Amino acid sequence: MSLTLTVSDIWKSYKGIPVLKGCSFSFDAGATYAVMGANGSGKSTFLRICALIENPAKGEVHYFYNSSAVKNDIELRRRVTLVLPGIGIFNTTALSNVTYGLKIRGIKKSEAIKRASEALEFVGLFQKRNQNALTLSSGEAQRLGIARAVVIEPEILFLDEPTSSIDEKNTEIVEDIIFKMKQQRGTTIILTTHDNSQAERLAEKTLFIREGCFISR
Ligand SMILES: Nc1ncnc2c1ncn2[C@@H]1O[C@H](COP(=O)(O)OP(=O)(O)O)[C@@H](O)[C@H]1O
Ligand SMILES: [Mg+2]
Repeated sequence: MSLTLTVSDIWKSYKGIPVLKGCSFSFDAGATYAVMGANGSGKSTFLRICALIENPAKGEVHYFYNSSAVKNDIELRRRVTLVLPGIGIFNTTALSNVTYGLKIRGIKKSEAIKRASEALEFVGLFQKRNQNALTLSSGEAQRLGIARAVVIEPEILFLDEPTSSIDEKNTEIVEDIIFKMKQQRGTTIILTTHDNSQAERLAEKTLFIREGCFISR
């Protein structure tokens, strides 16, 4: 697996206020990266732009596969996934929340259930598969969000503050999942965090955003 990402001179403003002011970086395949910075420094904005959910005002986001540029189309957007905390959980079972992404990709029901069950097992939620997802604890909901991404087998996984609102035990489980994604599947992981020690535990490289740019620390 060798999908890589290069961002060059990314600029982004909201209502005339600049958030990102010329961020550039190349992400290697198979590594884990942490993006850190104060609240409002632009971490989530950076992730959304990298994950092709939002366009920069200026600058380029390029994906490469084995050094050839990859066209920015729906196919590419299936290979890169952004997990946001607690977003878009449906009022149905945990299992159906995970099979959904497979069904819309035309995968037949029995296969979808098999793969979703494996993804739930992977995040330690198999026992909760028939529980309504809206009744899961915040730590479990966070893991469900990861299962929904994992089941699609993304090559690059973006995680926006994956442990910001969960307890120590769930944080440990989530860190373990991230570690396994990298070790077992070779997934490239780009996450935001406020936790220095988490960045040290998980990431080969930590990027700090300050005043709209990456700084070295
Ligand atoms: N859709 C938006 N509309 C207006 N302002 C936004 C929007 N998204 C982000 N911002 C602003 O951009 C700045 C950076 O936000 P964000 O990327 O969420 O920071 P972080 O994730 O580092 O806390 C903040 O001041 C935020 O209010
Ligand atoms: Mg944020």
